Amino acid sequence: MLKIAVAKGRVANKVSELLLDTSDYRDIIDLSSRRLVFVDKNKEITFFLVKPSDVPVYVESGAADIGIVGKDVLMETGNSSYEIMDLKTCSCRMVLAGPSENRDVRPIVRRIATKYPKIAEEYFKKKSEPVEIIKLDGSIELAPIVGLSDAIVDIVESGKTLRENGLIVYENICDITARMIVNRVSYKMKNKSINIFASAVGEAIEGGEVNAQSVVMG
Ligand code: PRP
Repeated sequence: MLKIAVAKGRVANKVSELLLDTSDYRDIIDLSSRRLVFVDKNKEITFFLVKPSDVPVYVESGAADIGIVGKDVLMETGNSSYEIMDLKTCSCRMVLAGPSENRDVRPIVRRIATKYPKIAEEYFKKKSEPVEIIKLDGSIELAPIVGLSDAIVDIVESGKTLRENGLIVYENICDITARMIVNRVSYKMKNKSINIFASAVGEAIEGGEVNAQSVVMG
C-alpha cells in the first residue's frame, strides 16, 4: 500500500485536479466530503489530507511514503526527505512586504511578523540586517497595520490580500511551488510504486516531468 500525505487547502485542490487527468487515480480523493483518508484497495494507494506544516512529519516518520506540500513548508521545516518533483503548480512568492506609504525606498525594518521565522531569519542574516522576528499563525498582514511589526515575510499569490490591506511588496525572497517528497526508506523499498505514481502525476502536469536532478540525496 502506497501512502500519500497531501497538504489540505490549495495544494489538495490542485492535486485532486491533477489526478483527474490520470487514468488510475482519478476517483479516489473526494474533497466534497469531510473524510481525511481515501483508500483504494485495488490500486493499493491511500491518500491522507493533513495540515501543510504536518506533511514533512508524516513523511519523515514513515507514516506516509510520499508527501505533497508547498516549498515554503519544506524550507521552513528543513525536512530531510527526498524532494523528487516540482509540481509547478500552486505558484506563489515569498516576499518582504509592508505599508505602502514607503513606496520609493524600502524603509529600514526592525520588527518582522511572519509564519515563517526560519525563512525570515535566514533572509535577514544574509543581508546582515538585525531584526526581531515575531512568529504569528495567520492574518500576517494585520501586524504592520496595527503596529505589531514594521513589515511581514509572507507568501503572496494574487496580491489581493496585500492590496486590500494597504501593503506593498518591498522585496522578493523566492518563488514557491508545490513539491513531492518521499520518505528515504520508502524510496528504496517501494521504488516501483512510487515511480508509477510520480510518473502519472508528472504526465498530468502540463510540460511537467519527474526531474531526477531535483532528487535531494543529502
Ligand atoms: C496566505 C498568505 C496571505 C494570502 C496571500 O494566507 O499568508 O495572507 O494567502 O494570498 P493572495 O496574494 O492571493 O491574497 P492564507 O490564505 O493561507 O491564510 P492565513 O492568513 O491563515 O495564513
